[in-house]
Parts: sequence; C-alpha cells; structure tokens
Amino acid sequence: MSESASPETKVVLAYSGGLDTSVAIRWIQEKYHARVVALTVDVGQEGELRGAIDRARRNGALDAQLVDAKETFVTEFLWPAVQANALYEGVYPLSTALARPLIARTLVEVAQATGAGAVAHGCTGKGNDQVRFDVAVHTLGPHLRVIAPVREWNMNRTDEMAYAREHGIEIRTTLESPYSVDENLWGRSIEGGRLEDAAQPAPEEVFDWTSHPADWPKEPEEVAVEFEAGIPVRVNGRALGPVDLVQTMNRLAGAHGVGRIDHVEDRVVGIKSRETYECPGAIALLEAHRSLESLVLPRDLLQFKALVDRRFADLVYEGLWYSPLREALCAFVRSTQEVVTGSVTLRLHQGSARAVGRRSEYSLLAHELATYGAESRFPQELAVGFIHLYGLPNQLAHARVQAARSHRQGEENVPRVARAVLRASG
Ligand code: ARG
Repeated sequence: MSESASPETKVVLAYSGGLDTSVAIRWIQEKYHARVVALTVDVGQEGELRGAIDRARRNGALDAQLVDAKETFVTEFLWPAVQANALYEGVYPLSTALARPLIARTLVEVAQATGAGAVAHGCTGKGNDQVRFDVAVHTLGPHLRVIAPVREWNMNRTDEMAYAREHGIEIRTTLESPYSVDENLWGRSIEGGRLEDAAQPAPEEVFDWTSHPADWPKEPEEVAVEFEAGIPVRVNGRALGPVDLVQTMNRLAGAHGVGRIDHVEDRVVGIKSRETYECPGAIALLEAHRSLESLVLPRDLLQFKALVDRRFADLVYEGLWYSPLREALCAFVRSTQEVVTGSVTLRLHQGSARAVGRRSEYSLLAHELATYGAESRFPQELAVGFIHLYGLPNQLAHARVQAARSHRQGEENVPRVARAVLRASG
C-alpha cells in the first residue's frame, strides 16, 4: 500500500486490545495516513473485550466493532475439525489455526461494509498466523491490501511501550505478561519467555484453564458425551448449544488437568518452535469422537479416513481453509459421519481423558460374532480355509524372493531353512 494514501483511506484492523494492536492503531494512521476501524472478533477469548473496544476509540480509532462469532466458530470450524479428528502432528488441536480463517473472513466483510481498501493484523513475520491471515484475505478479498504493522516496524516491546507513552496511547492497565497468549474456545496457546527453552518444562504460571497438578482430583470423573452424526450434542444427558457444550467440556476436563500440550512444532515458514497449549475441551471431545468412530466405521474406511484426517489437519495448519481441497476433504468426512451417533464415556483423571465405554445403535461390534461365550455364532471351522487362502499369496511371494536371492548369491550362501522351503515349493 502506498504510504501516502488519501486521508479517505480506511483500514480495518484485527484488534485484540493488547500492546501490539493498540500501538498499531496510531502507527497505521501515521504511516499510511489512513483511518482505522478496529475490529475485535469474539471467538471465546477471555478478557474484557468491551473495555478493549472503548479503549480503541479513545486511542483514535474511527470506529471500533465487536463481533460475536462464537457460535459460528463452533459450528463452521470446530465441528468439522472434530469430525476429522484434527490434530496437527498428532497432538495440537489447531485452536489458533481454526480461528484465523474466521477472523480473516470477518475482516473482509467489515472492509466491504465500511468501504475500506485495506485490512491489517498484528502478526509477526515469523509465524503461521501471517500466512493464514494473508492467504485468506487474498482469497476472499483480492482487492484488499494487507498491512502487518508488527512485521513492518522494527519495534520490540520496550520500543512499543515508549511509542505508546510518546503518543499518549492508553494501554491495558493490567501488567503485561512476559508470554504471548492466543485464546479461543478451542484452547490457549502460550509462547515466549522461559518457554523458548525446549529443554525446560513449562512453568506452572503459564496455565490458566487447567488446574495445578496439586489440585487434580484424586478420584476419576466419568463424563458421558453424546454425538449425533459426528457432532457432540449432549454432556451427561443434558442437551447443550454448541458454545455451551465446548465451554462445559473445557471446565470439566480442565479441572482434571486434561489437554496440556508440550509440542516441538514445525511451522509453515520452516522454523521449529516449542509450543505450549492447554486445550482441555478439545482433547476430551476429540478422544470421545475418535472412540465412537472406532465402533461404527468399518476398518477400511477408518484406515482411509485417517489419511484424509491427517491431510485436513495439515491444510488447516497451513492456512488453506478457503480452498477447494478443504471443501472436498470436508465433504468426504461428512459423508462418513451419519452413523457416528451414540454415546461415549470419558474418564477424566490426573491429566488424561480416556474413552472407557462407548455405545451406538450403529455399532459394528456384533456380540454374537465377537464373544468367546457359548452364544457365539462365528463359524470358527471356516477359519482354517480362510487363513489358507489369505496366506497363499504371501507364501508364494516369499518363496520367489528366496529363489531370487539364492540365484544371486549361490546356493551355498542361502541358509538351510530357505533351501528347504525352496525344495518344498518346487
Ligand atoms: N503455533 C500455533 C499455531 O501456529 C499457535 C500460534 C499462536 N499465535 C499467536 N498469535 N500467539 O497455530
């Protein structure tokens, strides 16, 4: 964007209320001679969002808007992720990654509604979030410029504080923590400070949604989660709306310390970094969903779906939510979910959430086939023939490999056992 845009230029800034984006309001005005609309998207981050909005106005924003996107976040982003058992590198439920496309979409919508020519975000040039925001905005609003003050300016925290003082910018009165935190309904990410030393355990002070290990209940707690077509709808028999349900699971699982994640993560920009998360509700719901799927989906579908699930997680991490591939993967996943209806009992205990029971009217677990009891109707006598045919191709292939090896190496080098096999198979 030209640095001498007309004073009519409007920029919609994704505003969190923290130091970076508070300073950014003024910085964008100065550097781009633009007016700033501050936009805060409520995806379930805690903290005083109303207060942040008022502060944005006092700090010179032309307008400041708060959009409650919690329900959309759950139904359009989190439920598909649950259905796809989405865990990046097998451990990270993608809490930050799933919120970015929704925030970006809201930025584009507000830019359109207010006639803004650009959007801005507070991402650095080292992370994944810049990729997710930029790609989503370029995709949904190709006419919009993207400004990333933190990526452009050369300020550290001390510089930002000085800039705020010089310009009379009001910042949050509560003590700024030494950590960088991102939060939404699906979890918290905590970075920076002492966490950057991957050799050291995360200090207890970084956790907020999971209780201190000393307070984890000695006794396990069982929680029943019911799903309809792959979507959680009831907890302990109570029907809950999407937002309520996720919050309830965060509370129940958080009390037992479930969902603390210590991850050496591979970022899109090629950096490895130590990431710390707490995602109690996400980890519990994903465990329940995975367990229910194991009951109702056939083996070949489970195996193939695991590939699709893995691809979905990578794609979300990599910022490609608004892509034909994401839609196609979701369509596949959805097509597998009509039988993922039933109930799972989770046992929460000392930092873990494990499925210890599951039932479904679509269960493929047939008692009369699986039981070792007298009521078994599995025709065991057919097993011998089945195994013979099943093993035949392997028996043949093994013999051929042995033959090839013996031709190459000369018979002397082939162990006696293999020679015996060769003789037997002619
Ligand atoms: N590494 C995580 C991710 O890429 C978390 C990023 C946290 N973002 C933040 N602005 N603090 O999804």
